[in-house]
Amino acid sequence: MAETANAVALNESQIPEVPAEAAAQGSKQTVDPWNVQGEVGADGQIKAINYDKLIEEFGTKKIDEELLARFERVTGKKPHHFLRRGIVFSHRDFELILDRYERNEPFFLYTGRGPSSDSIHVGHCTPFMFTKWLQDTFDVPLVIMLTDDEKYLFSEKRTIEEVQGYCDSNIRDIISMGFDPNKTFIFSDYDYVGGAFYRQITRLAKHITLNQARAIFGFNDSSNIGKIHFGSIQGAAAFANSFPHIFGEDEKKTVGIPCLIPCAVDQDPYFRATRDVAARLTYQGVRFAKPSLIHSLFLPALQGPGTKMSASIDSSAIFMTDTPNQIKNKVNKYAFSGGKVSVEEHRAVGGDTDVDVAYQYLRFFLEDDEELEKIRVAYSKGELLTGELKALCIKELQTFVAAFQERRAKVDDAAVKEFTDIRPLTWMGNPKVPKADIVVPKLEGAEGAEGGDGKLTKNQLKKLEKQRQIEAKKAQKAKEKEGSAAA
Ligand code: TYM
Repeated sequence: MAETANAVALNESQIPEVPAEAAAQGSKQTVDPWNVQGEVGADGQIKAINYDKLIEEFGTKKIDEELLARFERVTGKKPHHFLRRGIVFSHRDFELILDRYERNEPFFLYTGRGPSSDSIHVGHCTPFMFTKWLQDTFDVPLVIMLTDDEKYLFSEKRTIEEVQGYCDSNIRDIISMGFDPNKTFIFSDYDYVGGAFYRQITRLAKHITLNQARAIFGFNDSSNIGKIHFGSIQGAAAFANSFPHIFGEDEKKTVGIPCLIPCAVDQDPYFRATRDVAARLTYQGVRFAKPSLIHSLFLPALQGPGTKMSASIDSSAIFMTDTPNQIKNKVNKYAFSGGKVSVEEHRAVGGDTDVDVAYQYLRFFLEDDEELEKIRVAYSKGELLTGELKALCIKELQTFVAAFQERRAKVDDAAVKEFTDIRPLTWMGNPKVPKADIVVPKLEGAEGAEGGDGKLTKNQLKKLEKQRQIEAKKAQKAKEKEGSAAA
């Protein structure tokens, strides 16, 4: 028998961070900041997440060969293996960032983490690995937001003290990814919000209606008002004028500096709302720059490609604190296999690398393209067995986690202070081109000038319209009631 691990379907009580108001989605694929699950088939099995469908639904663009060729021309660098392998697969206005790099006009990188556990897992590492590579490639400032407030507001149980504790240890995890302290500002919302940043939050809050928050995030009348407001906080970091210590005090210049946000695709709804607001914001006649995005796939849960690895389900994830033995045991016990039930059948027909979790992890962590291709071919032909494939995956994960743990042990309080101090940063941008001054975007024809892809999706507009109709009916009924009471 080949050592095939069966899919463990997650029941609802195991799915973390799901606001009750967003959970009732039927059997369709759901991807939002709290809920990631592929379509559930008639047989009750969760299907792999369909990322092409997401591109269509979210109205983003697929990263194609042409864009990658342009990236290589502009930066002189071979695209990262995440880009070459379609792990970073979709974007919004990435080409505008390349335009700016070409002219050495300022832009910055923005990413984040919601501190929901003491340790990050290997899935969280992937956007950070990619962000570090982007920082090395573009040589631009990077801001990293820790949404301790989000993790308090969205949990029934967590206390503020608890999330602040997670925040401290997650900051150390993030520093261990190797970011350059001269170009990186890491902040927690509880510590940083105030001044320019709070002004930005209120600007966004003023432009997002309750109806829009319902349509985009699925909130209802029972959602706490902190959740409803939270999108304006996560969105506020996408604007350079939220960071005067990095970009200067002159908002007429800084509102025009865009950012590029690397994240997994679950975070897109926040920034769809942010882009929609940005298109309507001006400061003394100068238009705000819309944030650009670059999206990655989820590192699947050990149980299979229908859900993401999650910090709230220990058996779904490899944590950066796991020992070599824990890694080995988790992969051997839980990793969903694309192999066949018996060795004979596997040798005859071969395994399915599309659903095999050990192979999928190798796609993320094994950098050598040739080696990966050899493994793919051997497994697909049945020459390589599930146990052998898992052993390769275990070795790669153990090496990755051990190297992280070595760096993590060296992160002391001084390093945390260095990254989190409110201070100027230094950066070069494109070394081949003299630094351009900040270009103030023109106002004419600004509204919807970018094809409207930052706007609400068709589905969201539909939901919004439905919401409006329901409210109009409610108002009508209330009026009628008042009328009959008066009579
Ligand atoms: P959080 O903590 O859920 O996730 C942090 C980052 O990791 C990505 N991610 C994953 N990537 C690959 N595989 C997975 N299994 C996986 N799970 C999570 C997330 O998309 C994210 O990029 N609200 C945010 C924090 C935040 C943020 C941001 C994230 C604030 N501002 C800007 C990205 C960009 C959160 O709770 O992330």
